[in-house]
Amino acid sequence: MAKLLKKGSFNRDERVLCPLQDLCSGCQHLDLTYGAQCDFKKDQLLQLFTEFSLPYLGSIQVLSAGPAFLRDRLDFSLEEGRLGLYRKDRREILDIPGCSQLSPVLQSWLSEFRKIQWPFQKGSIRLRIGPQGQKGVWLDFANIDIKTLLDEKTILHNLQKEALVEIGQRRKVPVWTGSEFKLRDPEMHVWFQTWMNERPVDLFCQVASFTQPSLRANKIICDVINGWIQSFPRSRLIEFGSGIGNLTLPALAAAESLTACEIDALSLEGLQKTLESLPEDLQVLRQKIEIHRGDFQKKLTQDFSQFDGVLVNPPRSGLMNFLSPLEELPANKRPPFFIYMSCFPESMAKDVVRLKECGYDLEEVYIVDQFPQTSHYEVLALLQRK
Ligand SMILES: C[S@@+](CC[C@H](N)C(=O)[O-])C[C@H]1O[C@@H](n2cnc3c(N)ncnc32)[C@H](O)[C@@H]1O
Repeated sequence: MAKLLKKGSFNRDERVLCPLQDLCSGCQHLDLTYGAQCDFKKDQLLQLFTEFSLPYLGSIQVLSAGPAFLRDRLDFSLEEGRLGLYRKDRREILDIPGCSQLSPVLQSWLSEFRKIQWPFQKGSIRLRIGPQGQKGVWLDFANIDIKTLLDEKTILHNLQKEALVEIGQRRKVPVWTGSEFKLRDPEMHVWFQTWMNERPVDLFCQVASFTQPSLRANKIICDVINGWIQSFPRSRLIEFGSGIGNLTLPALAAAESLTACEIDALSLEGLQKTLESLPEDLQVLRQKIEIHRGDFQKKLTQDFSQFDGVLVNPPRSGLMNFLSPLEELPANKRPPFFIYMSCFPESMAKDVVRLKECGYDLEEVYIVDQFPQTSHYEVLALLQRK
């Protein structure tokens, strides 16, 4: 993984300065140098392994795309003209004109967006920058405020000159009919990018879709996943939580076949569009993938003995009953390797305890620090059956 090590190198002494450090609840580690933050996260993860009696004799390496300017999407709240995050000292939104978490293009989109005067008090807003620099916004407002916005017209007309706009929980797209705005079905566009080795692959989804927070940090994640799967040639994989296919494609680059399991219909619509839009020479990947939609935390009908490896990136609640059929299989029928990616180390640790009981050992662990200056981090772990 020499290539990775180079990418993971960073200036340990760097410190990010923020004028809102004492007020904003967004970052927790601004008082530490970046090196100290990385050590803190590593120690915290090792301590968690100890608490859960998970033996790991290897080292944990922190891979980073840098201490700042990583994010390509932001989720802010609007409250009485202020646009930002909660304050540290009281339950009130702090107005945030600029943030060193944001990539420079996202910062400039935020500055432009902040000029809008909203005709109502409250709402949630996501801004996003796509891989080709395209701008997106998801306005998640109450129905009554959405109606106000559609009737007001000027704000939407101006926003649509700059960006793709999605509205409400159903993520509909406003369309001007010549006399009024109508809300039409969600649209899939290229809002994120994954990697098959050094080759970027466009991912279709919505501004409102789940994606990793940073295009740059995501390259590191894809390289780790791809590298691990390459070390098990021609494997048949099952994936939990494939979403829009961010890990699916790096995995498929090296695997024989992949069964994707995902609950969210709109994410899978994006993945389907991505597969249909693959360049000619990658079309062959379509024959290697099988997609299943369902609640796989409840039950899995697939037979784990048909797979060589498992790739999971679950939500906060972890894998739950997805693991039950694995536990019921005789040990020698269980897939030889298991790749676990999570930004919720506590639920991951609980699942890894169950995997340990199934005979899996932690072989390699990385932290990808895609949330620098905060207490959050992404863990990538490779487990192998003894
Ligand atoms: C942390 S995201 C990972 C998505 C994707 N791997 C990525 O990198 O963008 C977790 C994914 O698990 C999916 N998920 C949540 N609950 C699920 C369930 N019960 N069964 C299947 N998938 C689920 C979510 O919809 C989401 O796509």
